[in-house]
Amino acid sequence: MDPAGQMCKHFPVMETALIDSFSRRIEYLRVSVTDRCELRCSYCIPKGFTGFEEPGHWLTFDEIERVVRAFTQLGVRRVRLTGGEPLSRGKLPDLAARLVHLAGLHDLSISTNGTRLRRLALPLRRAGVARLNVSLDSLNPERFAEITGGGRLDQVLDGLMAAKEAGFEPVKINMVAMKGVNDGEIGDMVDFCIRHDFTLRLIETMPMGATGRDATERYLNLQEVKRALQSRYELIPTMMAGGGPARYVRVGGTNLRIGFITPISQHFCATCNRVRLAVDGTIYTCLGQEHKLELRPLLRSGVSDEELKKAICRAVLLKPERHEFTTQPEKIVRFMSATGG
Ligand code: 5AD
Ligand code: SF4
Repeated sequence: MDPAGQMCKHFPVMETALIDSFSRRIEYLRVSVTDRCELRCSYCIPKGFTGFEEPGHWLTFDEIERVVRAFTQLGVRRVRLTGGEPLSRGKLPDLAARLVHLAGLHDLSISTNGTRLRRLALPLRRAGVARLNVSLDSLNPERFAEITGGGRLDQVLDGLMAAKEAGFEPVKINMVAMKGVNDGEIGDMVDFCIRHDFTLRLIETMPMGATGRDATERYLNLQEVKRALQSRYELIPTMMAGGGPARYVRVGGTNLRIGFITPISQHFCATCNRVRLAVDGTIYTCLGQEHKLELRPLLRSGVSDEELKKAICRAVLLKPERHEFTTQPEKIVRFMSATGG
């Protein structure tokens, strides 16, 4: 019997579930709309890199909508648009508006580097995007430029204010914590987020690609960071809607929530609920493994909706039990922007 048919039952009345081989329910899809980005964060795209996907291989908005519709019919309820830098893909608000209207999709969010938010925050909010995550590793202009390979801090700060004005709730800041680079700034970032009512998420570096592996020299165990913060603030464990891997605390006497994303020091593979769709139509089932299935050849050869859903079920069954970042850090040659962050 077709294992996909067995594991992934689609009933006529949409009572469906994508369950992987380890009984994890997949209900979250991250869609990379481009692998390009104008920044060169030290742990992400290599400096001088030119091997980006050719535009002819990018899934079109029609193809993305079709794939996301198939996922929602299989029980996916939440989608995040990522990249590369998703806001660098032309007409992104149009895509967002199309996805928001899909039956079954409850939550559409975006992860961005923030540089284009002054122009795009309002159109994206109007299109129905509910939540935004913005990467920000430093509040010091020189250090920010150094980490991002020439990015302008003022542009991102202005973008963050535009996001707030446009009514995104919450706006989350993603800070990759790096020893000897920005670990001295975590307190400043906490104060900044309290002041502006942002949520802070601290992330451990992952050895993805050569850039990610170089970053492991600067790896900072977030359990230590948490202990250091505890000596200064009261940290009250809390939950946050979104169902992601972050473990949240609230800072006593404030509304600030801090999330710790600890793929290395405390991996969360047992509760992983997601797969990723790269810009070229490849489904990657794990950030730290190669298990994947290419949808583009199917999409461009007239696959039926039923066959597309079967292929998605097959992809989900390929999802490995866990990453091996700690035991086999050399394994993954793709850096984050190639997979979709
Ligand atoms: N390790 C951890 N996080 C990474 N990101 C990119 N590369 C890495 C890495 N090697 C994160 C950045 C950004 C998001 C798109 O992906 O924090 O916020
Ligand atoms: Fe661009 Fe994000 Fe990668 Fe930085 S981490 S280079 S902002 S895609």
